[in-house]
Amino acid sequence: MSLSPRYPDTVHYRGLNRPTHIEATAHDLYVEGTIPPEIAGTFYRAVHDPAYVPRFADDNILSRDGMISMIAFRDGRVDTGIRYVRTERFKAERAAGKALFGSYRNPFTDDPSVAGIDRTVANTTPYFHAGRLFMAKEDGLPYQIDPDTLETIGRWDAAGQIRAEALTAHPKFDPETGELFLFGYEADGLASRKVAYYVFAPDGTITHEVWFDAPYAALQHDFAITATHVLFLIYPTIADLEGMKAGGPHWIHHQDEPSWIGVMPRHGTADELVWIEGPRGVHSFHVMNAFNEGTRIHLDQCLFNTNFFPFVMEPSGIDLPVEGALTRWTIDLSQPGAGISSRTIGPFCEMPVIAAADVGRPYARGWYLTVDPTKLTMLANGPGEVVFNCLQRVSFAAGEPDGRIDTLSEGPGLGFNEPVHVPSADPAHGGWLLMMVDRVIAAGHIAQELWILEADAIASGAVARVFMPFTTCEQVHGHWVPHARHAPAAPR
Ligand SMILES: [Fe+2]
Repeated sequence: MSLSPRYPDTVHYRGLNRPTHIEATAHDLYVEGTIPPEIAGTFYRAVHDPAYVPRFADDNILSRDGMISMIAFRDGRVDTGIRYVRTERFKAERAAGKALFGSYRNPFTDDPSVAGIDRTVANTTPYFHAGRLFMAKEDGLPYQIDPDTLETIGRWDAAGQIRAEALTAHPKFDPETGELFLFGYEADGLASRKVAYYVFAPDGTITHEVWFDAPYAALQHDFAITATHVLFLIYPTIADLEGMKAGGPHWIHHQDEPSWIGVMPRHGTADELVWIEGPRGVHSFHVMNAFNEGTRIHLDQCLFNTNFFPFVMEPSGIDLPVEGALTRWTIDLSQPGAGISSRTIGPFCEMPVIAAADVGRPYARGWYLTVDPTKLTMLANGPGEVVFNCLQRVSFAAGEPDGRIDTLSEGPGLGFNEPVHVPSADPAHGGWLLMMVDRVIAAGHIAQELWILEADAIASGAVARVFMPFTTCEQVHGHWVPHARHAPAAPR
């Protein structure tokens, strides 16, 4: 491992991963088609863009500095903006004019001058609760952002009430109670098994806190709630403290270790947490949904045979070829010893999306990204050289997959990013999807368009396209905030 003099010539810095450093605002964007009037709110997006050449050439995309992007809709007009999140790390590196923090989640590789400074890059998910906009990454506490100017307000610990050192970038919101559910892993230090779980009332007050030990120090990227329970998801990508001290990666994936679901009443205690063993070696980054059916709980997730990221290896250094599918795991709370039953309910799946009103409930449809191999686009975008070019809609009847899968695939030359769902005021209408589309316009050059799709008619294509005035790096996750939850300031 040697210090890097320039941006490395790896997938992590090529194509759409090429740094742009753009911070900009633009108003009244060019629109083709008609924007449905009920799309009134703001699509916040997390983008990752490294502000400085990484210290080490083998660093990966997960270390890149977080940017918060907004695409705001008001009376058919569209504005956009993007800003770096001024994390403590960003500010220290901006002052020095170079990277001071080392490899992804390995503080032993940092310049000694930054010891004790918050390492998170806040690059994964924007979310909004109790009037506050946050940018989150699972290795630290979230940063609060001004929802109109995108200026960083600062690291948020609920006025000192959050003792966990980190909180997930996959918050869950109950559609009926308005509660926010969060957890943090490695909650009291590097490679720790400690997990902290918090419930927040609609006004942002912490109403419940539980600490417990996970079976091992796993990469717990996502979790799930049902109407009654919370599910903690443990897959065997495990922190390696000794390896980190030697300058190695934070994570090693163990194909021979079991997965686990920890299930607890939403407002339960650690004594009520039940661990149910699952298959060995599997991994999932993202949950589509979970819900109760009598004493049973169904968990729908994008499940893989191994860790999806090519740079997360087995102890031997092997990286298995990835196979995956939208998969339903079912447990029975009346028979926890019966384990987990598993079945495939859809093709290769990432970036799952559902309507906010369906979280934790039986649901009729969801959407996710996959790859149409007949229209491949080779473009560095995230951890791989192949982009998602296919959006799918899977539907359920009475909670069961009905076999209908709708598809919108494009290419070669186009890439899809995780959409966000915007509900319709008409209960008979399935709402809308807003999806950023990357379009290769020449070798090494990409333009971006925001597509607006009818959520229940994705195969018909976009009803409107918003042409973005500048190109950003890859989007990670997004979040829709309607005007009813935040009345935005008028453009200046
Ligand atoms: Fe994620």
